[in-house]
Amino acid sequence: MELKIYEDAALLASDVARRLSKKLESPLNVGFATGRTMDPLYASLLKKRPQMPLARVWMLDEYLGLSAGDARTYAHYLRERVFTPLDYPEAKINLPRLSLSNPQEAADDYEDRLRAAGGLDVQLLGIGHNGHLGLNEPGSSIDSRTRVVTIAESTRVANQGFFDSLNEVPREALTLGLGTLNEARELWLLATGRGKAEIIKRFLEGEVSESVPATLLRSHPGLHVFLDQEAASLLKPVG
Ligand code: GLP
Repeated sequence: MELKIYEDAALLASDVARRLSKKLESPLNVGFATGRTMDPLYASLLKKRPQMPLARVWMLDEYLGLSAGDARTYAHYLRERVFTPLDYPEAKINLPRLSLSNPQEAADDYEDRLRAAGGLDVQLLGIGHNGHLGLNEPGSSIDSRTRVVTIAESTRVANQGFFDSLNEVPREALTLGLGTLNEARELWLLATGRGKAEIIKRFLEGEVSESVPATLLRSHPGLHVFLDQEAASLLKPVG
């Protein structure tokens, strides 16, 4: 595992954006995540524009129950912040086909397309306060595949700011599974701010358990953890 701790979130964003831009210039499969943690990274990526975007891009999760054009879908978030400003080639953008007859079919189809494309080379990850990755909430198994999940109430509350009221926050989502993520060549997990310090400590130093899903991927050989000092502030000093 690579653990990198930056002085602040801006330095983290700039360094990870530089690395990400290089990956996007190779014919790889790169998975994007959403969330506030990713905002500075994507803003920085626009400044370090990949010269020739060759990577196929994928997304980690998506709300169910919103209409396709809804500005609050994760697909919209990624198009608006990343794919459209980068003029990313449409043929390389892979999104779940939520128009399929039912959401689980869309999940299976997404997993099949990803597998047929060779699986993920790099997956960006944020982390929820309860240790969720994507929307693999507590109780998710390490064998889980891309599927329809129920969003934890605490996650709905955390994401309420993107909606007018809690009632509008979707209750279900489609997420890449932990088993799917475990097969990625590299996982890049980012966390910033004091508010993530407790969960980062549990992730890196706590017991490995389905009750903190991120711990199940802690021994992944290609794991890179990028933290700012605040998110790392409760970790035991090294050495
Ligand atoms: C959301 C997303 C996750 C994200 C996490 C953290 O629910 N579905 O993919 O990693 O929560 O979000 P934030 O970066 O806003 O703290």
